[in-house]
Amino acid sequence: MKHDSTPMAPRRLLLALFLTAIIWLGTVAGEQEAEHIPIDQYCEPTTDNSSPGSSETRQANTVALVRNLYAGAVANGGFCNDSYGTPPDQVFGLAMCYVDYNWTMCESCLRTELYFESEACPYSWKGGALYDACVLRYSNESFFTMADTFNTRAVYFDGSDSYAHEIIRMNETRRNLMRQLFYEASGSSLRFANGSQRYMDLFGDLLTVYGLAQCSRDLVPYECRNCLQWQLFSLMHSLPNNTAGVVKAYSCYIRYSMEPIEIHTPPPPPGAAPSSKHNKRKLIITVSTLCGSILCVISLSILVWYCCCRLNERSDDIGHDGFFNDNEMKEEFTKGTRPRRFRYSELVTATANFADSQKLGEGGFGSVYKGHLKDLKIEVAIKRVSKSSKQGRKEYISEVRVISRLRHRNLVQLIGWCHGGGELLLVYELMPNGSLDTHLYNAGNTLSWSTRHDIVLGIGYALLYLHQEWEQCVLHRDIKPSNVMLDKSFNAKLGDFGLARLIDHSQASHTTELAGTTGYMDPECCA
Ligand SMILES: *[C@@H]1O[C@H](CO)[C@@H](O)[C@H](O)[C@H]1NC(C)=O
Ligand SMILES: *[C@@H]1O[C@H](CO)[C@@H](O)[C@H](O)[C@H]1NC(C)=O
Ligand SMILES: *[C@@H]1O[C@H](CO)[C@@H](O)[C@H](O)[C@H]1NC(C)=O
Ligand SMILES: *[C@@H]1O[C@H](CO)[C@@H](O)[C@H](O)[C@H]1NC(C)=O
Ligand SMILES: *[C@@H]1O[C@H](CO)[C@@H](O)[C@H](O)[C@H]1NC(C)=O
Ligand SMILES: *[C@@H]1O[C@H](CO)[C@@H](O)[C@H](O)[C@H]1NC(C)=O
Repeated sequence: MKHDSTPMAPRRLLLALFLTAIIWLGTVAGEQEAEHIPIDQYCEPTTDNSSPGSSETRQANTVALVRNLYAGAVANGGFCNDSYGTPPDQVFGLAMCYVDYNWTMCESCLRTELYFESEACPYSWKGGALYDACVLRYSNESFFTMADTFNTRAVYFDGSDSYAHEIIRMNETRRNLMRQLFYEASGSSLRFANGSQRYMDLFGDLLTVYGLAQCSRDLVPYECRNCLQWQLFSLMHSLPNNTAGVVKAYSCYIRYSMEPIEIHTPPPPPGAAPSSKHNKRKLIITVSTLCGSILCVISLSILVWYCCCRLNERSDDIGHDGFFNDNEMKEEFTKGTRPRRFRYSELVTATANFADSQKLGEGGFGSVYKGHLKDLKIEVAIKRVSKSSKQGRKEYISEVRVISRLRHRNLVQLIGWCHGGGELLLVYELMPNGSLDTHLYNAGNTLSWSTRHDIVLGIGYALLYLHQEWEQCVLHRDIKPSNVMLDKSFNAKLGDFGLARLIDHSQASHTTELAGTTGYMDPECCA
C-alpha cells in the first residue's frame, strides 16, 4: 500500500518472482511451510569442546527431542515439555501454542519448529524461537517451571494503521485490564486468561478493550505472575495508541485489541496426526492421547460440577438488561478480595423482607435497612440502591469496585453486594452510632471535644490512606458529615464511595470534573 512511487514494471516483475517462488516452495519444499517466520529467535552454538559430552550426540538428541515435542504438543492440546538422552548429552525442551490461534495454525506452526533447530542453529546447546502461533525452547539444562527472563521480548502491532481516538482512558483501561488478567492467568490451570473492560473515552464514546495474558504452561503460578508483571507490564506504560498490540517474551505473552480476541479452548482434539511411520512416535502419540483423554474426562467432570454450582448460585439473579451486563459485573467484582456476593433471599431474610421497622434512613439513591446475617452472626446495614436511576447503577458499581478493594480502620467496610431479585443491594458493617451529622445537628446529643478531635484525626488517616498509601489514588469527592459514620466507640469511618474516582499517582495533577455536594465543596471550585 505504501509502494505508490514504485513504477509499474518492477512491481509486475516482483509479483511474478513472488508467485514463482511460491510455486517452487510448494512443489520442491513440500510440507516445509514458510507461513510462520520467527518473530524472535536465539541460539547458543556449541564452541569446540567447552561443554561436556559429545556435540554429535547432543545434536542427534536435540533433533529427536524437537520431533517428540511436536508429536507431544499435537497430541496434547498444544503443549509439551520433555527431555531426551542421558547426561551429559541430555537435552530439555518445550513447545507450546498460543490460545488465540486456531488448531490449524497451531499445528502448522509446530511443524515449522521441526526445522528451526536443524536450519537456523544446528549444534547449539540452547535455543528458542518465537512465532505468531507457537514458541519453542530447548537447552542442555532443565528450565521447566521457571520463567525465561534473559531473552528479548518482542513488541508489535497488528493493524498498525489503526489508532484509538483517545489515548488517556484507553491507556488506563488497558493497564487495569492487564493487571487483572495477570492474576487470573497465573491462577488458572492452563496459565492463560482473557477478558474485556468497557470504558468511556473523553469524547463520550463507550468502548471496550479486550485482552489476553498467557504463560508457558509449565510455569508455577508465581513465576507466571513475575514474568507478566516484570517482563511485560513495564511496557504497558509506553505502548502507543494502536488499536491492537502484542508483547511477547519466551515464557509469557500479552495481547490487547479493541476487537474481540478469539480464544481456542479447550485444547483441540488430536485430529491432525503427524505423517510419520516411526513406531516410537506412534507409541508416544497413543500414550499422550490416553493421558489427554483422562485429563479431558477429569476436567469435564470439574467443569460440570462447577457449572452446577454456578447455576444454583445464579438462580435468583436478574437477567441481562443491556446496560447491566452480568459478565461485566462479575468481572468488576471479582477484582475485590474478601467482600462477597449475597443471594437476594439471604438479604430478604436478614431484613424481614425489608420491613419498615428495619429502616435506618433514606440516602440520596435509596434506603438503608438494618439486617442480621445469621450465618456470619453479624449486624449489617443494607443499602438498597434505586435501580431505575442510571446514576444509582453507576454509583453501585463505583462503590463495589472501589471500596471492595480498600481496607482501612477508618473506612466503612463493605461486606458484600447483591444484584438479584431486581434490586441492587450493598451490605456494610453496621455503624451503631449512625452518621456524624445526626450528632452535630442534634442539640440534645453533643459530642465531647476529645471525641471530635479523634473523629477529625480518623478522617485524616482515611484520606492519607486513600490519597497516598493505596496503589492508586482514590478521590472520594463527597466528604461531608452525613458520609462519616461512627462505630460503637465513636471511631470515624468514611463511607459512601458513590462518587469516588481512581487516579494514578503519576497523574496527580490530573483534574476531574466537578462533583460532590454544594456547600461542602471548596467555594473556589464553584466560582
Ligand atoms: C550446558 O552447556 C554450557 C555451554 O556449553 C555449559 O557451560 C554447561 O556446563 C552445560 N550444562 C550441562 C548441565 O551440561
Ligand atoms: C485458522 O486461522 C487462519 C488464519 O486466521 C484462517 O485462515 C483459517 O481459515 C482458520 N482455520 C480454521 C479451521 O478455522
Ligand atoms: C496516534 O499515534 C500516531 C503515531 O504516534 C499519531 O500520529 C497520531 O496522531 C495518534 N493519534 C491520536 C488520536 O492520538
Ligand atoms: C474469552 O474468549 C472466549 C472465546 O473467544 C469468549 O467466549 C469469552 O467470553 C472470553 N472471556 C472473557 C472473560 O471475556
Ligand atoms: C514438564 O514440566 C513439569 C513442570 O511443569 C515437570 O515437573 C516435568 O518433569 C516436565 N516433564 C518432563 C518430561 O521433563
Ligand atoms: C499511559 O499511562 C502511563 C502511566 O500513567 C504513563 O506513564 C504513560 O505515559 C501513558 N501513555 C500514554 C501514551 O499516554
